[in-house]
Amino acid sequence: MKTTILKALRESGGDYLSGQTLSEALGVSRTAVWKAIGGLREEGYEIESHRRLGYRLMETAPRLTEEDLALALRPMGIETIRYRETLTSTNDEAKALAASGADLPGVVVSIEQTSGRGRRGRQWLSPKGDGLYISFFLAPEIAPERAASLTHLAAYAVNGALAHLIDREVGIKWPNDLVIGGKKVVGILTELSAEVGSLNYVVVGIGLNLKQTTFPEALREQATSLVLEGIEPPDGIELAREISARFLDAVHLYEETGTLAHVLPALREASVTLGRRVRILRPESTIETKALDLDEEGALVVESPEGGTERIYFGEVSVRGLAGYA
Ligand code: BTN
Repeated sequence: MKTTILKALRESGGDYLSGQTLSEALGVSRTAVWKAIGGLREEGYEIESHRRLGYRLMETAPRLTEEDLALALRPMGIETIRYRETLTSTNDEAKALAASGADLPGVVVSIEQTSGRGRRGRQWLSPKGDGLYISFFLAPEIAPERAASLTHLAAYAVNGALAHLIDREVGIKWPNDLVIGGKKVVGILTELSAEVGSLNYVVVGIGLNLKQTTFPEALREQATSLVLEGIEPPDGIELAREISARFLDAVHLYEETGTLAHVLPALREASVTLGRRVRILRPESTIETKALDLDEEGALVVESPEGGTERIYFGEVSVRGLAGYA
């Protein structure tokens, strides 16, 4: 309801719309219109009301609210859209929505997480207003063992969105980090609910460091933010829109073709891993080798210590010359 009213107000281009017109057009009572206008005002929209003329929106730029997100993302085919300023973790909220039967695909967005999660049980620091946290939940028609591909599709989408919105090269450190000047600015956490051979849903969570001006000592060498790199962060709504559009398109093509071929040139081009010495951390051992290529499943092709090549599908990789691998 608030979304529909916001849409009507935006489409009127700053002209007044009477309460009567709105209630007739939307098939709801004038009291319901009045309540929705109150709700929008509480979210910060400046809506002027005039006794005879009705309501008009005093600002035009979309804002990071559930209503503006819905206006931006519904036309792309995102069915469930949730925005909350603060959440424990957008991935957890996305899982809860998917498990309770919310329409897919869906997206959860927040600007603060009180229990943000990183890979391998690590914490993802998410102080209010410093970052943007986005989790998609979807049920692509792919086998569960291929869900890791969604991490590559998300890295592709974020890289493309940032290339469009900021004037700085952002690299992809295989498989799930985006880096500026060797330091991590975006992390991706893909989680899934599956049974043997069949996927229920996947959650792809993206954490963007935008405005942090400092990081705890232990992270300072490895983490950065757009502000720390001297880059003005784009609006949250712009980021959400640009990332979502690229991610959904890439997922559709992946479902149709079953390969990452359509994103491989961009992934290779942005990779800060290829051609470098890498250290691959495995539960049983750590190997040092050279990263040669990415294949159409997203695997990292490396020189095998025994000669020839070897494919790495998952794992923690540090890249020589980048933070964390001296
Ligand atoms: C990593 O690099 O370790 C992955 C970090 C992923 C963080 C994002 S923030 C949005 C989503 N919600 C979470 O709790 N984690 C992911």
